[in-house]
Amino acid sequence: MLIRFLRDLEIEIWHAMRRKLWPDTPPELEEAERLRAKPSYLIWVAEQDADIIGFLEAQTCNRADGCVSDSILYIEGWFVEEPFRHQGIGSALMQAAEEWARAHNILELGSDALLDNTISHRAHKKLGFHEVDRQISYAKKL
Ligand SMILES: CC(C)(COP(=O)(O)OP(=O)(O)OC[C@H]1O[C@@H](n2cnc3c(N)ncnc32)[C@H](O)[C@@H]1OP(=O)(O)O)[C@@H](O)C(=O)NCCC(=O)NCCS
Repeated sequence: MLIRFLRDLEIEIWHAMRRKLWPDTPPELEEAERLRAKPSYLIWVAEQDADIIGFLEAQTCNRADGCVSDSILYIEGWFVEEPFRHQGIGSALMQAAEEWARAHNILELGSDALLDNTISHRAHKKLGFHEVDRQISYAKKL
């Protein structure tokens, strides 16, 4: 298994995995292409036997919920294809992002998870994250 950056020709594969993670993602490639073009946006993939089986996307920023510094790599998306889960691939993706952040003098990793995503909570804790707060989003249709 190899962790490396996404290649341009793989945008559609990444987009297909993003749609599994966020089913509301539109089928068009627009958002993926826009993010891919941002210099602050980084996308790692896990490759096994020539197949891409997971990704982690993150962006550098100077402010994020829960973070205290102004030098942050914020984890925006983290996904491993179901048959390959709980085999260390998610950890390897996160470790690659962390190593990149350290090498670029970034001071903090930030991330979030839905309240009911207990596997993600465990995975974050296993990888050294600590919980900062819990949030509920509200909306009111006008
Ligand atoms: C979260 C996710 C990326 C983790 O990837 P993964 O390859 O399964 O993670 P790892 O195998 O490296 O596991 C890391 C730790 O997570 C926890 N974990 C992972 N799968 C678990 C499971 N099925 N049950 C309980 N804990 C689990 C464990 O603490 C594990 O450490 P351990 O192996 O020493 O027990 C993966 O579960 C996933 O894609 N989930 C669906 C999408 C998602 O929820 N993404 C996160 C959004 S915030």
